[in-house]
Amino acid sequence: MIYRPIVLDKEIVFSKKKFIVSKTDTKGNILFVNKNFSEISGYSEEELMGMPHNVLRHPDMPRSIFFLVWNSLKAGREVSGVVKNLAKSGYYYWVIADFSIKRNNQGDIESFTAFRRAAPNQVIEEIEELYATMLDIEKKHGIKGSLSYLESFLEEKHMSYDDFLEELIRPKGIVGALLSSFKRMFS
Ligand SMILES: Cc1cc2nc3c(=O)[nH]c(=O)nc-3n(C[C@H](O)[C@H](O)[C@H](O)COP(=O)(O)O)c2cc1C
Repeated sequence: MIYRPIVLDKEIVFSKKKFIVSKTDTKGNILFVNKNFSEISGYSEEELMGMPHNVLRHPDMPRSIFFLVWNSLKAGREVSGVVKNLAKSGYYYWVIADFSIKRNNQGDIESFTAFRRAAPNQVIEEIEELYATMLDIEKKHGIKGSLSYLESFLEEKHMSYDDFLEELIRPKGIVGALLSSFKRMFS
């Protein structure tokens, strides 16, 4: 049984130098988490092992965002996303997540790894409004409706989803350098 906390409107703020890592099998069941993951989510490593990653799913997150993530990963395309996560305490924390793919010697997908960093306030402000609208539409018209809203939102900006994310979440300064070396440690 997955533990479902009572959702509380309180944010967990953490250092931009603290990277959160997890690895899953191809279905999204957790195989590995680093210390920061446990510390910030409030779940112990033992609790998390083998759990579906949606243990952290926050009800404010539109399903269509995870639909896009999984579509990319299944197609073998690495992807990023801005995610509001739900900690065991019921508090939330915003992350920018870069999802990467590991293949075995035969070239088949073996696992996925997500590297997360704290989302800066201006990123949260921009995405929060978009997600709130998408979620609202999703409740009435399902994932298809919220994806077509996203499409029109991007059309207005003359951007693809990838370009929009790239511009929004590109790591700046020291965080970019730290993140690159951190990713190398896990690959
Ligand atoms: C490597 C990896 C990391 C993930 N990390 C998160 C995460 O931090 N938070 C989250 O809500 N979902 C995460 N997901 C997506 C979940 O698997 C799931 O699709 C999502 O929580 C939505 O839940 P649902 O599919 O049951 O609707 C991750 C998936 C993968 C493959």
